Amino acid sequence: MIPAPITAPLAEGVDRERTNPIYNGNKLKLGTFGTNGKGTANTLVPEQYRPTWANVVKAAQLTDSAGLEAIVSYAHWKGHELGKPDHPSAVVLDPYTWAAGLAQATKYSAIFVTTHAPVIHPITAAKQSSTIDLISGGRFGLNVVAGWNRPELEMFGAPLKEHEERYKHLDEWLHVLKRLWTESDEFDYEGTFFKIINGSSRPQPIQKPNPPIMNAGGSEIGRQFAAKHGDMCFIQASDDPKAWPGQVASYKDLAREKYNRETQVWMLAAVVQRETRAEAEAYLKRYAVELADLDSVDASNRLRMENAKIRPDLLEGMRFRKAAGAGGSILVGTADDVASNLQAFAEAGIDGVLLSWVDFADGLTRFQEEVLPRLERAGLRRPFSGLQKATAA
Ligand SMILES: Cc1cc2nc3c(=O)[nH]c(=O)nc-3n(C[C@H](O)[C@H](O)[C@H](O)COP(=O)(O)O)c2cc1C
Repeated sequence: MIPAPITAPLAEGVDRERTNPIYNGNKLKLGTFGTNGKGTANTLVPEQYRPTWANVVKAAQLTDSAGLEAIVSYAHWKGHELGKPDHPSAVVLDPYTWAAGLAQATKYSAIFVTTHAPVIHPITAAKQSSTIDLISGGRFGLNVVAGWNRPELEMFGAPLKEHEERYKHLDEWLHVLKRLWTESDEFDYEGTFFKIINGSSRPQPIQKPNPPIMNAGGSEIGRQFAAKHGDMCFIQASDDPKAWPGQVASYKDLAREKYNRETQVWMLAAVVQRETRAEAEAYLKRYAVELADLDSVDASNRLRMENAKIRPDLLEGMRFRKAAGAGGSILVGTADDVASNLQAFAEAGIDGVLLSWVDFADGLTRFQEEVLPRLERAGLRRPFSGLQKATAA
């Protein structure tokens, strides 16, 4: 007998809160950032992380077995410096295929693809991301970026749009993507940037209503976009801890009051954890001052100055922070110091922190052994049993 054609969806949809750990009950959620590239530090120390597949899987499995909520990629098509195609900042694995591989190699953490709207069509993004959602059992997430790095977009012959136009394009891109992810019938769409004829994409994601969207726009229009669409937004924590609750509240209030939605607020932090504070500070000085890759930092800052809406006074202060990490906070000291820094963020209302280390395997091991138990004792995280697995088939 000839079997009937398969018409049922590949997997029943489930509420994303059941499968995606970024919705678990931990007061402070954690993740890693940048393991598909060199990490975040801009340094010349020889032990700096490199994205060999063995290193990528090892970092992901340490993150996963520690019960951290997110593994987040970045998307870069070129390095910071033109004429240096082999510079570590240029060696970045494609986020979609990286995520598909890690979905298979992990069991718990959410895997976030970062994608550039100007160079990936939403139909391509819809199908690739649904496929990763299936492989991971509903643990996919999407970090959408409008793009700001002119040379990498010009490489495609896709000119960098004016700032406001970038976010209009991203808005339309996300609208089309979400329709492809969710609508049961084919649809036509004609906007300013996209024309879709009989649009559909199967399979659709497991996660309902849709996989979480992350956005990290820094400008005012970027903030508005993130509050309107982001399930996770980002702030750069001020140097003055007293300002943190206000920074968090202003994002959450904007999302609630203007867009009638809830958003998590996350931030980035580089971690330097050692047995003593002096050792940690000495190591930070070694990799982020004495052996800082300042050519790369300055090239990246120049690009940002020219193409993103970053205040020049902030950029100068970011020189050291960018050598140390991605420009976010730096948590330096003993396990007690790192844990108390994280506790202060949580008390200010931060929902999650994406962490990075010069050497992810070493850093994650120290962090799991010594910082996580402290966060658990402080009531910020439940001990991870390893049994709280994604539940979708
Ligand atoms: C956590 C985080 C991840 C980011 N990932 C990327 C990325 O992978 N690629 C990229 O081009 N920009 C990335 N960005 C930059 C932002 O998406 C944004 O373009 C930038 O902060 C400038 O803001 P604006 O577009 O509002 O001016 C990231 C920013 C943050 C804070």
